[in-house]
Amino acid sequence: MKQFLQLMLSVFVILTITSCQEQNMTTKTDDAVGQKVEELLNKMTLDEKVGQMNQYNGFWEATGPVPEGGDAKAKYEHLKTGMVGSVLNVKGAENVRKMQETVVKESRLGIPLIFGYDVIHGHKTLSPVPLAESASWDLAAIEKSARVAAIEASAVGINWTFAPMMDISRDARWGRVMEGGGEDPYLGGLIAAARVKGFQGDDLTKDNTIAACAKHFAGYGFSEAGRDYNTVDVGTSTLYNVIFPPFQAAIDADVKTVMNSFNVLNGIPATADEWLMRDILKKKWGFEGFVISDWGSGKEMIDHGFARDLEHVAELATNSGSDMDMESTANVKHLKALVESGKVKESTIDDAVRRILRVKFELGLMDDPYKYCSPEREKELIYHPDHQAAALDMAKKSIVLLKNENGLLPLKKDQKNIAVIGALADDKNSPLGSWRIGSDDNTAISVTEGLKAINSNFKYAKGADLVAGGPVSFINELKINETDKSGFAEAVNLAKGSEVVIMVLGEHGFQSGEGRSRAKLDLPGVQQELLETVYKVNKNIVLVLMNGRPLTIPWAAENIPAIVEGWQLGSQSGNAIAQILFGEYNPSGKLPMSFPRSVGQVPLYYNHFSTGRPGPIDLVFWTHYGDESNTPLYPFGYGLSYTTFEYGDLKIDATDNKNIKVSTTITNTGKVAGEEVAQLYIQDKVGSVVRPVKELKGFEKFNLEPGASKTLEFVLTEKELGFYDNQGKFIVEPGDFNVMIGTSSDKGSEGSFVLKAMNDVKN
Ligand code: BGC
Repeated sequence: MKQFLQLMLSVFVILTITSCQEQNMTTKTDDAVGQKVEELLNKMTLDEKVGQMNQYNGFWEATGPVPEGGDAKAKYEHLKTGMVGSVLNVKGAENVRKMQETVVKESRLGIPLIFGYDVIHGHKTLSPVPLAESASWDLAAIEKSARVAAIEASAVGINWTFAPMMDISRDARWGRVMEGGGEDPYLGGLIAAARVKGFQGDDLTKDNTIAACAKHFAGYGFSEAGRDYNTVDVGTSTLYNVIFPPFQAAIDADVKTVMNSFNVLNGIPATADEWLMRDILKKKWGFEGFVISDWGSGKEMIDHGFARDLEHVAELATNSGSDMDMESTANVKHLKALVESGKVKESTIDDAVRRILRVKFELGLMDDPYKYCSPEREKELIYHPDHQAAALDMAKKSIVLLKNENGLLPLKKDQKNIAVIGALADDKNSPLGSWRIGSDDNTAISVTEGLKAINSNFKYAKGADLVAGGPVSFINELKINETDKSGFAEAVNLAKGSEVVIMVLGEHGFQSGEGRSRAKLDLPGVQQELLETVYKVNKNIVLVLMNGRPLTIPWAAENIPAIVEGWQLGSQSGNAIAQILFGEYNPSGKLPMSFPRSVGQVPLYYNHFSTGRPGPIDLVFWTHYGDESNTPLYPFGYGLSYTTFEYGDLKIDATDNKNIKVSTTITNTGKVAGEEVAQLYIQDKVGSVVRPVKELKGFEKFNLEPGASKTLEFVLTEKELGFYDNQGKFIVEPGDFNVMIGTSSDKGSEGSFVLKAMNDVKN
């Protein structure tokens, strides 16, 4: 009898689990928010549920007249009938209030909208582009930068940002590398979590915290040939060990939403990849928030050859776990009929709506739909001096010193007779990058303005335009000046009579970002020729680079004595660069992506596998190019300082298998105080799935006075020593490990240890 009862109980449990799984019931319903969600859900009609799963782009100047005809009129009516759950690209406290009022007052249940926006590296006040911020390796500063962005964005009515982007990328041709954390999953994961914390703060119900969005799930950074939107084909080992970790870190940091992506991943568009969204994200990782499609990525499945038509799009995306549709209009047009015909279960809709409502409750929108709509706060907070100060601090920390021969830098504060050359030196727009849709054009401090604030003993000559033709814009293809060299002579004359030349060269702000892939990675247009021409008359050049991605600059690296990586540093760009050049701040950034020597090397990344023929050997049959070295021009983790650091020998204590201690002492051997980022790398020498030649597993940034030393100890646990096998299981394997603590991925003190077998292996 007892056995029979036990059997019946097991059958009941299995049936319940199966039925929950069939119904895709992966959301919590038994907590306080869950109960409120259930109450509301029970009152909703199918139409209203489908409405929550629909997001429109801002279609109406809300404080202007109500739309009278066409598409905008139809969308406006949808606000009133509860057929819209969210809008994007509506901003301004008054605009947001007006639109919110329409929904809250006129729709039957008055469920507030959630207002999304791309707040990528600031809203009005702009921080450096995310790749540049990542070069700071300063998690507290990065978190603060996202916090400031949230404060400004929330003051203009926005309560949801489509950030952070955490797509790992190894391909500098891909324009969106500027929006991410670089090539490394460990650093990328920590940065993703810091950004999520910054945006969401410690209490989402406050009026200055906003929901974050982990994007783009998944694989978007691995587009073939670095061409945006292109196909992605990656193996399971790369997915689990490289692409997923930052997303897992964001989920652990309680990110409220996730965006899927435009790309096809291993044959399936990510927007309808049930394995990604249901099996991995929602079931395995327990994600409770909602998934939004990327802009029209639903509709694009028709072009991919995956969906027949828009109805099919709604069916595939919803059944696969894409909860809200950005701008495809597939859900709003077809979901109701799909439920009625049985192709989509109402329980699937319920699961999506629960998730969306949960985030709205957690944001406090249900209690006060207008909590972000204060024109006074808006006026007080945008471009606030405190935010400008934070942006300046972040910008200084993001700069990487690539070369400094004979101590050319820093320049003396009373240095006379300086030439400043290059269109970007006087540009107030480019340093804002391309993802600055919330901000105002031409609001960056230019390099010439920044220099003037410290030392105005300089003359400026443009040398050549970077852009050809008319005004530049966010949506139009940029035309680069490839021919006009009429300004060269003036620049050469200026350089001839100067003691030192500062040349500011690189990419226009609209050359990186979405849709802005490049097949060439050199200095665009006539800039390389300008550099070489000026060099002929004056070799004392400080090259300041402005760019949103690694560039190939082998000639400059060989010939120019000082090179400063100045990225696109946002509102305070010029001040930050000037403070570095004149030594008011000692550079401390380290590259988050390898810089190739030539474009033929990409994808290029430090944590690659070894081939079976690592070489070098004297014959031809080893892994190499006949016309280029294998190594990067500047490796991952690289960056100089105005001082020097010496690393002592490693001490390794592996007596406690679960806490392996690796330590070293670092000394500031130069003449000035400086910050260093000490980096710890491991190599698991033999694995059941081959392991990379090196993997970052720890770092610390610290300041040292000249002559001072600091002993650092890193503790390696199974979290750092393990990896995911090809079934997605986290395993830790005993055996030999190499370890290094150093100043970059290619230089440091080395040692090794043996990891003994561990019993407990996590999933
Ligand atoms: C981008 C997303 C962005 C969305 C909304 C898309 O084109 O890929 O990252 O959040 O647009 O602007």
